[in-house]
Amino acid sequence: MKTYLVTGGAGFIGSNFIMYMLKKYQDIKIINFDKLTYAGNLENLKEIQQDERYIFIQGDTCDKKLVEDVFQKYEINFVVNFAAETHVDRSITCPEVFAETNVIGTLNLLNCAKESWQTRDGFKDGVKFLHVSTDEVYGSLGNSGYFIETTPLDPRSPYSASKASSDLMVKAFNDTYNMPINITRCSNNYGPYQFPEKLIPLLINNCIKHKSLPVYGDGLNIRDWLYVEDHCKAIDLVIKKGKAGEIYNIGGHNEKTNIDIVKTVIKYLNENFDSNINESLISYVKDRKGHDRRYAIDPAKIKKELGWYPETCFEDGIKKTIKWYLDNEQWIDTITAGEYKNYYEKMYENKIQNKSI
Ligand code: NAD
Ligand code: DAU
Repeated sequence: MKTYLVTGGAGFIGSNFIMYMLKKYQDIKIINFDKLTYAGNLENLKEIQQDERYIFIQGDTCDKKLVEDVFQKYEINFVVNFAAETHVDRSITCPEVFAETNVIGTLNLLNCAKESWQTRDGFKDGVKFLHVSTDEVYGSLGNSGYFIETTPLDPRSPYSASKASSDLMVKAFNDTYNMPINITRCSNNYGPYQFPEKLIPLLINNCIKHKSLPVYGDGLNIRDWLYVEDHCKAIDLVIKKGKAGEIYNIGGHNEKTNIDIVKTVIKYLNENFDSNINESLISYVKDRKGHDRRYAIDPAKIKKELGWYPETCFEDGIKKTIKWYLDNEQWIDTITAGEYKNYYEKMYENKIQNKSI
């Protein structure tokens, strides 16, 4: 039985990954290690919380003693490091916490994994540290071209700078100690359980509540959208078959302008939910500082070497996603309640009043 230490498993992609893995494999154990920040929510995992193959530990990846204890208590085969501060807008207003969790937290995990896995002549067999990273580390593209794994890093926000720093730390543990690692760099994910500060769930939530839809700048920035389950499948493949030391880009070849996304969500909800939802809700607001214009991943390497491809087309994925949010309206209200509510409301009001982000 292989044991996975999944950090940040109560967040959007981490919780989808845990559910996916426990459904797919009978003979695994998953330890979900999560600090439960505003973005982490155990509601996401209530279906499997009684599963004896699943253990939850509340903790901070920066907590050396606690992470050491976890490695001592459990025989960990794989670390899958999702834990991060992930929202670009928040990194613009408060970069420090991004450096703390994304860089120091990752370094701490690497050190503890190394201590636990190192043998006299190398590393235990069958162990691996998979670091989940992002296409944002490559910076911003013009109208043409794609990010490949050897594209130079050029992060432009405090978020992407912290992710690029952690990527380099992970690479250094491979180069220096020969520690078995992989780094995955994925494009924008969408799907169930995404916190409604991110574009797609924010649009759905605001439409349902008839609130305006803040579109940054001219709305023509481009992102490459991938259904979250396809990302989970890619991570599973990389853990199993990825060559140690390698980086794999993951993307959907599904580029959309933001305004296209906004209109797609409005159209679906107008036709299927409430005819009062229409384009009059769109509100062009002040642009994000340093807003990256275009991201686009070339996933040729993971396709060729590991046989991965995106299985869910955008037309199906977005319908499934919107339906999920309609069926789980209470989920949004629960996770945006309490302490986070003030912050969330203030951020929203600032956007709409065209204050700087
Ligand atoms: P998320 O914000 O939804 O979840 C992050 C999780 O990490 C939360 O459960 C939070 O409680 C936990 N966490 C934060 N700080 C922690 C700490 N110090 N110790 C332990 N747990 C901590 O994030 P997400 O969108 O699911 O992203 C997961 C990972 O995937 C991140 O590393 C992100 O950079 C990467 N990524 C995300 C996307 C995307 O589109 N969402 C795309 C590519 C890569
Ligand atoms: O590319 C992968 C990255 O995708 C991940 O690494 C990040 O963790 C994740 O948050 C996401 O970053 P983005 O900045 O691309 O996602 P976000 O949903 O914040 O914004 C998507 C686009 O929509 C971006 O161009 C900004 C724009 N936007 C966003 C919000 C929240 C708006 O126009 N209005 C909004 O209110």
